[in-house]
Amino acid sequence: MYNIVRIPGDGIGTEITKAVTDILEAAGAQINWIECEAGEATYKKTGNPLPDETIEAMQEHRIALKGPLTTPVGAGFRSINVALRQKFNLYSNIRPAHSLPNIESPFRSVDLVLFRENTQGLYIGKEHWVDDEEHAESIAVVTRDASKKIITAAFEYAQKNNRKKVTLVHKANILKLTTGLFLQIGKEVSEKYPDIVFEDLIVDNMAMQMVLNPQRFDVIVTTNLFGDILSDLASGLVGGLGVTGAANIGDDAAMFEAVHGSAPDIAGQGKANPTALLFSALMMLEYLDEYRLAEKIRSAVYTVLQDHKDECTPDVGGQGSTQTYTEAICKLLRD
Ligand code: NAI
Ligand code: MG
Repeated sequence: MYNIVRIPGDGIGTEITKAVTDILEAAGAQINWIECEAGEATYKKTGNPLPDETIEAMQEHRIALKGPLTTPVGAGFRSINVALRQKFNLYSNIRPAHSLPNIESPFRSVDLVLFRENTQGLYIGKEHWVDDEEHAESIAVVTRDASKKIITAAFEYAQKNNRKKVTLVHKANILKLTTGLFLQIGKEVSEKYPDIVFEDLIVDNMAMQMVLNPQRFDVIVTTNLFGDILSDLASGLVGGLGVTGAANIGDDAAMFEAVHGSAPDIAGQGKANPTALLFSALMMLEYLDEYRLAEKIRSAVYTVLQDHKDECTPDVGGQGSTQTYTEAICKLLRD
């Protein structure tokens, strides 16, 4: 029995967390959920978007499944997602994008895994006003140590999973010190992996190449903000944010969440696709070495997409709801 912290989150969070929990249960996963709270709804209720009990539960159990958390735009409290990643030094944000069966897309056979540095860059949110709010500045931090950790994680993943190439994405022509350092470390680390092809691309070109020819990419590694943007782009290549899972992994803790946010435009309407959080949960099972269980659930998802399209959510072309889709997967798993 695994003790795992569960944070349902905001917006569609409750709906998709329930769906994923039901699916894991139907598959026979032995999980004791430690129920915790965080996010905007928690803030509105208690005045604190990240309660001490949630941090303490994370400190004790070191593993969490988390729904999306709303972060106010322009003002208000800082991102709790970022706070959790930093607090537990979850430096690897791993975001795979694979083409799925029976989902309309102009892109075929996409199979890439993006590694996003998860604790630094412009995402540290160190900003200040100059000149009486006429001028704002933001600071990006890139350290040798953190860059080495994420780039090494990408190469290790490539080696373990028989991947052939690592593409490092940067903007070292303009941001010569920060992303220049990231690139420099990439070149150093790559020398230890002679069997893996290493290439680097400037981020704007990368965005174009990913749309023009996404099949040329295998493992991608980049800094925090570029990784944020390119992972949404990668999701768009394989059916959208409803189908891409992710993992935040550090040396001694891990938190699993989807690439997407709280999707306020569809919250409470039964339209949310739980596949993204489910795929995150499958990465969690793999982290726990439960590979067979993960494979069994993945195979049920593929079957439902292929043979029960009507029961799937509208974002992937179905006519069903979160509930009909979840039921279809649970039924297959129980049979
Ligand atoms: P979003 O990712 O929530 O939504 C973007 C679009 O994708 C929307 O049209 C939405 O309906 C659709 N979408 C997202 N997830 C879906 C799913 N499971 N099934 C079907 N459609 C789905 O991005 P947005 O609207 O920019 O952000 C909303 C809030 O989420 C913001 O407060 C933001 O800060 C927060 N956010 C939180 C994240 C996290 O918890 N890790 C990550 C990204 C955003
Ligand atoms: Mg994002």
